[in-house]
Amino acid sequence: MAATHTGPRHPKGPPTTAAAQQAAPFLAALLDSTVGAKVLVALTGLGLVGFVVFHMIGNLKVFQGPDAINAYAYFLKHSLGSLIWIARGSLLAIFVLHLALAVRLQARSRAARPVPYQFPGSVQATAASRTMLWSGAVVGLFVLFHLAHFTFCWVVQVEVAPGQFKSYLELTDAQGRHDVYSMVVAGFTTPWLVALYTVAQVVLFVHLLHGVQSSFQTLGLKNRRFAPVIRALGFLAAFTVLAGNLAIVFGVMLGWAPPVYK
Ligand code: HEM
Repeated sequence: MAATHTGPRHPKGPPTTAAAQQAAPFLAALLDSTVGAKVLVALTGLGLVGFVVFHMIGNLKVFQGPDAINAYAYFLKHSLGSLIWIARGSLLAIFVLHLALAVRLQARSRAARPVPYQFPGSVQATAASRTMLWSGAVVGLFVLFHLAHFTFCWVVQVEVAPGQFKSYLELTDAQGRHDVYSMVVAGFTTPWLVALYTVAQVVLFVHLLHGVQSSFQTLGLKNRRFAPVIRALGFLAAFTVLAGNLAIVFGVMLGWAPPVYK
């Protein structure tokens, strides 16, 4: 049934429906309430975990050879039409919402307790959320670096022949597609990049280890009966991402994906 218009008619714009008028204050109240913000941090966090797992599975194609990963990257960027921009926009929005709400929740909880606990070690929730903010900040900085490295390709160049350098963006394969394979191989045959990615993956593991469980708890799924299952799920998700990403970093470093340039 069509929504009926009961509100005032704006002289310049289309009439706002009663549903829209009710939704705006609801969204504002949801974002403003502590419980609403916690639920949104949990949901956006789980969404980001989904992206990281999906991204890792796609990147493992590096071990199937240049054609597999280059075709996959080409498909994502050029065959999905506007869907890829909708996905990128949603990912960015989810990321910003997750970060902004988490920072605000932390600031509110500090403001609500200006005097620190007498025995900080015994207050698990506070210690965990403090770690979450720091590990989250490191992961956020890593994502910025990672975009500069693999998406905008500003960080390093590849030596394609002795004394001849190319930007990652100029690497193409025999079919003229962006050579994502060579880009990843160039990345993880560079020792300082291996070290940086390794540290970032360990911090991401720490963030996910607590984050996944805590999201389920916020969503009310971690009761006494399911607590061990939720703990196991949180560990499994965090460990799978760590193992998959480090397999790419060290696998490439050890030559499991041999260079096709040079
Ligand atoms: C060893 C681990 C990783 C590898 C090998 C890797 C590889 C890549 C590559 C090759 C690209 C560029 C794809 C292209 O231009 O076609 C990319 C983009 C990206 N990566 Fe990663 N990545 C890793 C970990 C991560 C992690 C942990 C995150 C998030 C926490 C992440 C977030 C992103 C984002 C947001 C993009 C941009 C996607 C887009 O352009 O739409 N990556 N990654």
